[in-house]
Amino acid sequence: MITSYEVFVPSVMGSGASLRTGIKVRALGCKKVLVVYDKGLKAVGIADTIVENLENAGIKTVCFDGVLPDPPDTMVEEAAEMARNETIDGIVAIGGGSAIDTAKGINVLINNTPPIMKYFGVQKNLKPGVPMIFIPTTSGTGSEVTNMCVISCTSRGNKDSVVSPICVGTLAILDPDLTLGLPPAMTSATGVDALAHAVESLTGAHSNPLSDALARDSIRLIARWLPVAYRDGSNLEAREHMILASMFAGMAFTNALVHLGHSIGHTLGAQFHIPHGIACAVTLPEVIEYAAKTESKKVRMICECLGADVPEDATPEEIGAIARTALRSFIKSIGISNLKDLGIPLEAVLKVPPLITADTGFALVPYRITAAKVAELLKSAYDA
Ligand SMILES: [Fe+2]
Repeated sequence: MITSYEVFVPSVMGSGASLRTGIKVRALGCKKVLVVYDKGLKAVGIADTIVENLENAGIKTVCFDGVLPDPPDTMVEEAAEMARNETIDGIVAIGGGSAIDTAKGINVLINNTPPIMKYFGVQKNLKPGVPMIFIPTTSGTGSEVTNMCVISCTSRGNKDSVVSPICVGTLAILDPDLTLGLPPAMTSATGVDALAHAVESLTGAHSNPLSDALARDSIRLIARWLPVAYRDGSNLEAREHMILASMFAGMAFTNALVHLGHSIGHTLGAQFHIPHGIACAVTLPEVIEYAAKTESKKVRMICECLGADVPEDATPEEIGAIARTALRSFIKSIGISNLKDLGIPLEAVLKVPPLITADTGFALVPYRITAAKVAELLKSAYDA
């Protein structure tokens, strides 16, 4: 079988790496960049420090500080107009997935006419944009190393993605110092997103030996270090391992794709306004238990990476049950609530399966599953 490996982004990593932003951006030939972030990063001083670092390296900056969670198409179009008017030759995004996806959306519209919804789906022939430098401040999204951006479509009330080489960053700067101030709830909510990327990649439709290796190591790192980062946010070693785990998981799912956990997550997130990582995590144990029916070897690997023992002669059903228990116990240990504790009525949850099976990502689910079975998984996860 011939396997092709997709998308790997040059990266600089380590404590203090963000202080090399100016030098690195100058080396890419940029003279005037749009710096993209949200008001929270401005308030804690991270954005100003990086803007100053860029200017000290002789790079002019224009700032867009209006990044919103789940970036709306209208906001991306407004920022892109700013980028075009200012004739920038590079984009620096600082923040979580929302800031990085906003930067990617802007890049799509630098030389391609709006609206951005015209470009949802796989795009191979867009006019190129400008170099993009991504500086994540959370460990979860992996967006700094993927080839897609997720945008909220305001007219349709859903999320969709542009998947294209134009969304691939030129450089990722991974500085764990920038994640030291993340509060515990944000640490776990973003960390479980990386976990979902890793376990779904491992059981995904397009997994390959490289994505498997990245996903397995990511799960091991998350199992070992996310609880430490959750309990003690100032632990630099844990933050270093988590920023690496998030990148590994991002590379894994760019190759192997995610599946049912993310279709459920996108739908629950849109319906009940739950943070993305939590929305993916609430049913992840049941999703992986179900995946064991066809992918028992991969689910066995997940158990092993989580430190759960699986008897040599365990059946696929037994392996699935062990994975469900291990994942549930892990998710609970880092304070992720179930759907009931999130205050969502069961009747409302049981109305969403048809929306889940209509999600664009549902086509990537590598096994057959009906809306009725999805409802069973949701019911089982509801108060688990
Ligand atoms: Fe995700």
